[in-house]
Amino acid sequence: MQLAALAGYSDGAMRTLCRSFGAPYAVGEMILDAPVLISKTIRKHMRLWDHDHPIAAQITCSTPENSTLAAQTLVDMGYEAIELNMACPVTKLLRRGRGGAFMKEPTRAIEYLETVRRAIPPEVPLSLKLRIGWDESPESQKTFYTILDGAIQLGIAAITVHGRTVVQQYRGFADWDALAKARKFVGNSICLVGSGDIMKVQDVFRMLDHTGVHGVSIARGAIGKPWIFRQVLDMMQGREPVTPDYIEQGKIIRHHFDLAMQLYKDEGFVGRHLRKFGIYYSKFHPHAKRVRLAFLAVKSNADWNSVIDEWYGKDGQPANLPPVTDDQPVSEDQDLLMGEPGELDAAD
Ligand SMILES: Cc1cc2nc3c(=O)[nH]c(=O)nc-3n(C[C@H](O)[C@H](O)[C@H](O)COP(=O)(O)O)c2cc1C
Repeated sequence: MQLAALAGYSDGAMRTLCRSFGAPYAVGEMILDAPVLISKTIRKHMRLWDHDHPIAAQITCSTPENSTLAAQTLVDMGYEAIELNMACPVTKLLRRGRGGAFMKEPTRAIEYLETVRRAIPPEVPLSLKLRIGWDESPESQKTFYTILDGAIQLGIAAITVHGRTVVQQYRGFADWDALAKARKFVGNSICLVGSGDIMKVQDVFRMLDHTGVHGVSIARGAIGKPWIFRQVLDMMQGREPVTPDYIEQGKIIRHHFDLAMQLYKDEGFVGRHLRKFGIYYSKFHPHAKRVRLAFLAVKSNADWNSVIDEWYGKDGQPANLPPVTDDQPVSEDQDLLMGEPGELDAAD
């Protein structure tokens, strides 16, 4: 299993939390290749902590030359693997022929893969992120399989497939039957990782059973719930998956701010950046709406901690709340649970 690439979310701080619960592999947030070459700040934020391995850097291509140089720079920075994103449905990337735009251009997709594969050291694995097609048309399916086949021929190490089309963006359900078909097609010639609708621990095992994929990528299911990785390990070892009680959740959420401070060193920025995580954390709280509003007002570390003191507990004393039963949202505000706020700035 891997922590998925999540632009705006899967930074060093989130990855550290997920790894503390056993996430064995992570893909960094997708980045445009050229800024990696130009911006010292981006490189600073992408610097890796010692515990944050193994990890892939994910890039979305501008030109083959830039992608190659960016990939080499990232390898020098300590990323063990490089992933090319050919899946992102964000319009401004599509307009420039990046991300999911490749799903309409198999020849260009394979040329890019080939160029980057040749440029990075042979021992550095190259992986690919795809969706199941540009849209649902038969031509689109054909293109998907052409790219898949091209990647296999090039000896690409792994492909993560998100079971939605580019046109579909995040609507509806991921098509796990399409993932099963892709798995049958690739056999064991490449590592196929499934992505889409892994929201709770049981979904990991359901996807493996349904599709036969070699691995799963946990995306939205890990935002606000980094302990999902521990729950997977619980189930693998035949135990009931444990949901942390509110005191433990409070500690994790507090620690998130500390980690983000170590990474960004700017309290105002971190306060704003973590608000969206607060929305996700609040989903598992019985007073979700009030906790969400409290997180949304955070400007500083002190604000963040006082939300936790009030709603999760303080000095080892739990807040006055009903017991945690499982990892399902327990909000009294069902409407709050329908939307996925992360999608507003989703990058793939
Ligand atoms: C906020 C957000 C950001 C994402 N960023 C990326 C990204 O940078 N690169 C990528 O390949 N996929 C990205 N994705 C897609 C996820 O990795 C995953 O494929 C998708 O969310 C489907 O999985 P899920 O339904 O389990 O969330 C993003 C998704 C979300 C919601």
